[in-house]
Amino acid sequence: MAYSRSLYLQLSALLLTGFASANLAYKSRPDLAVPVLNITIPATNETDPGLIFYTPESTYADNTGHGPAQSGPYIYTDKGELVWSGFGFVGPRSENFQVHTYRGKQVLSIFEGSHNSPMGHGHGHTAIFDDSYQLLKEIKGGGHRLADQHEFLFFDDHSALHTVYEPEIRDLTAYGATSENQSWILDNKIQKVDTDTNRVLWEWSSLDHVDPAGTNLTLQSGNAGLGVNSSQVWHYFYMNAFDVDAKTNKYLLSARSMCTIFKMDGDTGEIIWRLGGKDSDFELGDGVDFCWQHDTRMHEKYLHHESKGSKEIISFFDNSAHENLAGGPILQSRPYSAGKVVELDTKKKTAKLIAEFRAPGGSLR
Ligand SMILES: *[C@@H]1O[C@H](CO)[C@@H](O)[C@H](O)[C@H]1NC(C)=O
Ligand SMILES: *[C@@H]1O[C@H](CO)[C@@H](O)[C@H](O)[C@H]1NC(C)=O
Ligand SMILES: *[C@@H]1O[C@H](CO)[C@@H](O)[C@H](O)[C@H]1NC(C)=O
Ligand SMILES: *[C@@H]1O[C@H](CO)[C@@H](O)[C@H](O)[C@H]1NC(C)=O
Ligand SMILES: *[C@@H]1O[C@H](CO)[C@@H](O)[C@H](O)[C@H]1NC(C)=O
Repeated sequence: MAYSRSLYLQLSALLLTGFASANLAYKSRPDLAVPVLNITIPATNETDPGLIFYTPESTYADNTGHGPAQSGPYIYTDKGELVWSGFGFVGPRSENFQVHTYRGKQVLSIFEGSHNSPMGHGHGHTAIFDDSYQLLKEIKGGGHRLADQHEFLFFDDHSALHTVYEPEIRDLTAYGATSENQSWILDNKIQKVDTDTNRVLWEWSSLDHVDPAGTNLTLQSGNAGLGVNSSQVWHYFYMNAFDVDAKTNKYLLSARSMCTIFKMDGDTGEIIWRLGGKDSDFELGDGVDFCWQHDTRMHEKYLHHESKGSKEIISFFDNSAHENLAGGPILQSRPYSAGKVVELDTKKKTAKLIAEFRAPGGSLR
């Protein structure tokens, strides 16, 4: 089925060369030009069931061969069949397309806004759609701030959490600034906002709790921004993911530029422990070592009941690679990227790799 559709699209492309958008893949929706997924390793009966969510981007104009003709949020089955095209539902740049439970119902969240390239962060808000794909509400940054695209979670039925990146002017001579112009640093915030009013209920600031001296991407290296203005700002922390245990109000943060995962107390804002990077509180077992990671998640529900308390299970994606913003070769800490599941013993301060998932072919992402 998927294959015959791919074939049909190839034929259509041949037949329709010169037309910018529609590709007639769906007779009832000739306006849609749906990106075709080429599934090279099909899902089996042993694959966890689920749908594929993604937000392909057109960074170039149509018909240049880069990106889809119609960027937006899409849902597919794991066989590559289209479930939903969100083209035109949100602005041209969409990100972080997720499913949540909110007020007892399944909802979709989609970040929409603009993208600061090459620094890689967003300025926008999150649109929430109900289970009939109707816009329910837009959740915005509070306190006259724009939300970033990296993380969005509901804390409960009345509040949501998102990342906010706030450029600030500070004296950075202690971190190697060579001119007074090198004074812009990016504060990474988690904002908890009221989902009805967008009022800020709580906020956490990386600069209040984590010294930039611990970063792996120093100001001098230029690899996390030059710090010369509010867009070329020094991204010393780069919080690209967080997770929360709403019952205990504890957070797990991924700081990409610091190659560190932090546990943080939401009541006091204090750091509880650090895994990886320059000041790890844990001894890292074989294969745990990581850098420039994404997608940190808590998996306390997988713990054996009797070991709860001192043991925690987390997962993350260890990219082991970072684009060299200063123009050199890609920074690399391992020859391949991998998803990792790690068991932490928070008393003995040990970290053990319990599962690793490498991309077929062992490539870097
Ligand atoms: C799908 O990908 C495989 C492996 O890269 C390639 O050989 C094949 O030609 C692709 N198929 C289509 C329809 O693009
Ligand atoms: C999956 O399918 C294969 C081949 O049909 C079969 O041998 C296997 O037992 C199945 N596994 C499960 C978990 O159903
Ligand atoms: C610093 O900023 C000033 C004013 O914006 C500008 O004139 C000067 O060229 C800048 N210096 C450097 C070293 O970038
Ligand atoms: C910020 O600095 C970068 C690097 O020097 C420069 O390319 C860019 O134009 C500047 N942006 C603004 C808004 O001044
Ligand atoms: C990050 O910094 C720590 C401490 O300097 C160092 O041990 C580690 O090798 C660095 N990682 C990378 C990938 O640069």
